[in-house]
Amino acid sequence: MFTYSQTTETLSQPPLGKLCLFHQRTGHSAKKITLKQGYLLLEHNKRAKLPPMNADALILAADSALRTLFATSRASRAMPVPSQQLSQQPDGLSAPTQAQTSLTETEKALSGALMRVNHVGEVCAQALYTGQALASQNPALRQKLDAACREETDHLAWTLERLNQLNSRPSLLNPLWYAGAFAIGYGAGKLGGDKLSLGFVVETENQVEAHLASHMTHLPANDLASRAIVSQMRLDEMAHARMAQKEGAVELPEPVKRLMGAAAKLMTRVAHHV
Ligand SMILES: [Fe+2]
Ligand SMILES: [Fe+2]
Repeated sequence: MFTYSQTTETLSQPPLGKLCLFHQRTGHSAKKITLKQGYLLLEHNKRAKLPPMNADALILAADSALRTLFATSRASRAMPVPSQQLSQQPDGLSAPTQAQTSLTETEKALSGALMRVNHVGEVCAQALYTGQALASQNPALRQKLDAACREETDHLAWTLERLNQLNSRPSLLNPLWYAGAFAIGYGAGKLGGDKLSLGFVVETENQVEAHLASHMTHLPANDLASRAIVSQMRLDEMAHARMAQKEGAVELPEPVKRLMGAAAKLMTRVAHHV
């Protein structure tokens, strides 16, 4: 079994914190030897070491998971409101009255289900970005991933607040969604490096953007509050995809894209109800 050990040895690329961890077997070093069918195989030998893991990053990852799953997230931006959305429309329509925007119980249930799906997407975004930032050895890229992650925190907070307003609830399976997305983010970064990891960001954000666009047609027409949130989220997701593209993302193979699409579809269907 591999163990974690504290060390003060000099690192070729010092991490942000002072305390470092090595994947290390007592008396031996460890070496990445084979990448085969997506599995990382490790074999100890006396010459090579795995890249160091940063204790601060690990703590931040655990903190992110706990905050995402069990705390009420705080947005750094105000929640988008319908008046903002309306002011962007050039048709000169006046603001709707309270009666025009109040929802029936059926409409509330539909909006609640759709916003629950969106909230799950944001839980996964937190996990994906956190996993990718942890896997990356590039401080500049980690900063960009962190910045995108902060915007995803806004989305997380907005969707949760809207769920509460609709008297609905988050998915009961959020820990499962988080674990799966974290594994994908961390695995992509470790197995394929930054460019593949960024490829996942581009494809994920593109799929999320398309999904949010479809929600704009499925949400009740008079649920302007949910529409304002989804609309701003769409803009942010497109910006995240552009950021990843600019940072040198590689295009994922078609079968991987299709697999991601199928997984997202399954998640969407389950989260609609559970
Ligand atoms: Fe998001
Ligand atoms: Fe995003």
